[in-house]
Amino acid sequence: MEKIRVGVIGLGIMGELYVKVYSAHPLASVVAVSSRRQKRVDEIQARFHVPHGFTDYGQMVERKDLDAVVVATPDRHHFAPASAALEAGKHVLVEKPFTTSTREADELIRLSRRVGKTIQVAFNHRWLSAYHETKRQIAAGEIGAPLAGYARKNDTIFVATDYISWAGETTCAWFLSSHDIDLMRWWLASEPLEARAWGRAEVLRNRGIPTYDLIQAQVRFASGAIVTFESAWVYPNAFPTIVDSFMEVIGSAGLVHLDRKRESMEVSTENKFTYPKGFLTAEIFGRLRGAFPACLEDFLYAVAEGSTPQVTALDGRQTTAALEAIHRSLETGVGESVAPLPPDLAIADAAR
Ligand SMILES: NC(=O)c1ccc[n+]([C@@H]2O[C@H](COP(=O)([O-])OP(=O)(O)OC[C@H]3O[C@@H](n4cnc5c(N)ncnc54)[C@H](O)[C@@H]3O)[C@@H](O)[C@H]2O)c1
Repeated sequence: MEKIRVGVIGLGIMGELYVKVYSAHPLASVVAVSSRRQKRVDEIQARFHVPHGFTDYGQMVERKDLDAVVVATPDRHHFAPASAALEAGKHVLVEKPFTTSTREADELIRLSRRVGKTIQVAFNHRWLSAYHETKRQIAAGEIGAPLAGYARKNDTIFVATDYISWAGETTCAWFLSSHDIDLMRWWLASEPLEARAWGRAEVLRNRGIPTYDLIQAQVRFASGAIVTFESAWVYPNAFPTIVDSFMEVIGSAGLVHLDRKRESMEVSTENKFTYPKGFLTAEIFGRLRGAFPACLEDFLYAVAEGSTPQVTALDGRQTTAALEAIHRSLETGVGESVAPLPPDLAIADAAR
């Protein structure tokens, strides 16, 4: 298999991880990187021996020696770089959430179909083995028909105040529940129809960050299942892990519980007690392994084989539409419908 030549847009925490995984992968080579700050571009080029660097991603995507582009910019800024890359004839791997508007998601799907290039959305949790096994068990009828679900994904306040600089431009639901909505759609094999949501905005607003502290949303799916999604990012920093995640599906003949607060490890020292995490990404014998690198590797296979990616643009669009309804409900105070797929996209081919 020929190497896939990759370019990465956005060189923050995630962008650097993409460069690290792909530059060490035998089926990929990182040909170019792009970030708004020249200093950061220089730093990443030097660290990972990347030949070409840009502060303007528009110039980067025009390179003839690029097959695929990763979009790892903040939540609200996926559309412009993804559409520039598609227009330039590149395959695209977009970080979650796919977009923060359904209209943008629909446009990207149309564009990818017009230019014949693949989009994969990096909902990397689908590659976590327990979540994957949950899909298999539910599909095999092990818990009967799914009746209801619950998903909590809550971060320590450090994430909103220090880890990302743009918390005020997004919400905990876009940042955190996007993963859980994608997982529930996948497990239930059903689409969200309507949402009713409530949120609180006090702690972060008092710290000058204009966003919700927490959001709770109830979503009704086409199958009849009802699912509660909770996201918060005001846990105290003394909490033993940066993210507290719990998911549940209750079926007519059983249930599944997934507690990812601990990933089997507890560490106690003289001054702290922590649950170190390693299922998504861990450096093992000098290489990054886990669900995140596996998600990136499968994108390479989808591009090389011309196959449908494991998480399609259509998947990303449906999660965005559910989140959009959740945010409309926060504003209106009533239940809101999830925007259905426009007729021109509601065919199997749209999955590409
Ligand atoms: N899949 C996961 O587990 C996971 C975890 C964390 C973050 N994310 C997602 O990854 C994306 C990036 O997050 P991050 O933590 O790396 O953020 P970050 O702030 O560390 O990095 C963002 C990068 O994008 C650049 N940038 C900002 N605005 C831009 C714009 N308008 N155009 C071009 N570049 C721009 C910044 O300069 C920076 O290099 C987000 O969508 C986030 O939700 C995913």
